[in-house]
Amino acid sequence: MESKYLQKFYDKSPTERIAALQSAGILDAEAAATLQKGLTLPQEIADNMIENQLSTYDLPYGVALNFLIDGKDYAVPMAIEEPSVIAAASAGAKIIAMAGGFRTTIEKRIMIGQVALKNVPDSSVAQQLIESHQQEILQAANAAHPSIVKRGGGARRVSVRILPADDVEGIPAFLVVHLHVETLEAMGANIINTMMEGVIPYLERLTGGEALMGILTNYATDCLATAECRIPSSLLGRGTLSGDEVRDRLIEAYQFAYIDPYRAVTNNKGIMNGIDAIVLASGNDWRAISAGAHAYASRNGQYRSLTTWKKAENGDLLGSLTLPLPVGAVGGSINFHPAAKMTKEILGYRSASELESIIVSVGLAQNFSAIKALVTEGIQKGHMGLHSRSLAISAGATGDEIEQLSERLKSEKNMNLATAQALLAQIRLDEPHV
Ligand code: MEV
Repeated sequence: MESKYLQKFYDKSPTERIAALQSAGILDAEAAATLQKGLTLPQEIADNMIENQLSTYDLPYGVALNFLIDGKDYAVPMAIEEPSVIAAASAGAKIIAMAGGFRTTIEKRIMIGQVALKNVPDSSVAQQLIESHQQEILQAANAAHPSIVKRGGGARRVSVRILPADDVEGIPAFLVVHLHVETLEAMGANIINTMMEGVIPYLERLTGGEALMGILTNYATDCLATAECRIPSSLLGRGTLSGDEVRDRLIEAYQFAYIDPYRAVTNNKGIMNGIDAIVLASGNDWRAISAGAHAYASRNGQYRSLTTWKKAENGDLLGSLTLPLPVGAVGGSINFHPAAKMTKEILGYRSASELESIIVSVGLAQNFSAIKALVTEGIQKGHMGLHSRSLAISAGATGDEIEQLSERLKSEKNMNLATAQALLAQIRLDEPHV
């Protein structure tokens, strides 16, 4: 539960927050000093990361608090530009922690690569040949990347999908070979891509077909993570609404997002607010995670809510989120990006599975917080309170003016840029700006 050092965390200055994290034992002295200096990506590293690099693009880096996951407390780093995401995640996680926290399940960590073969003379024969030569295919794949085999991972299974031709659209038939690979602590894109290219010559000889491509799929259905929570309705009351009423409205919010793709997209966008922010902070590929999550939301033919919210027999609220989370704990920028290294330090995760547990819990907390606000006081109250600071900065406020203008904006009926500019002019008239 929340350490005494972290109380009123949001009221502290960034320097005080870093000191509080150190006092709470979340940061050691060295990490605290690194954070105090700032997590800038050195120009030399940035230049070697991408082509045509010019500069770096900064985002705020903060922590969401109150996460109790599988009995362990976490402060979760997030890189995010949207004002309310960290506040919402922390608020949601706090209620869930009071109810015992998140329980997570990571069944397995298997990544999938595909080879698409075209012009295969007989798909059924080819499928049988592939199935009866599974060992040879696995050997060819593992020979293409011996180092992962040496570390205890490697290609484990082959499966085949026959995609029939679509004559209306003029699309030919494809025979798709999947390789299911254990990439251990890495996300494994390079391992898989090397293996897929390694098995192509063998597959072409075996099937008589021609390979179109060999590549990892980001639809990592063999790498699913689940977070669950159980919240007594006594923790849910808000204003004039009783806990039972809020619980029932939360379930209806889920049902709405289950049946309506227009709502489901926004519901899932809210989930990805937190997930993308921690995935980015951890140095992992947030585009891959987003693409896989949205595909998973459509797995039954209609795009639906990624979370489910139901009523338990005793009246508790039961929440659950499952999605593919092929993240790595090593590799890519995780090893050298200063913010990604700091995220590892703050979370203290020991494996990619543990990182998955944290990320999926963040998604569930984020959704809980968003729909709870939506079905009670509405989202704008909290949003605009936090948005007022961004608006103040956009209007040109600096230093103390930001807080002053943001406070004044909160009591305005029309909180927009024009109002912010007019109020700033007024503030400067009252107290000339130097
Ligand atoms: C805003 O970034 C996210 C929400 O729209 C999510 C939702 O509607 O569930 C508040």
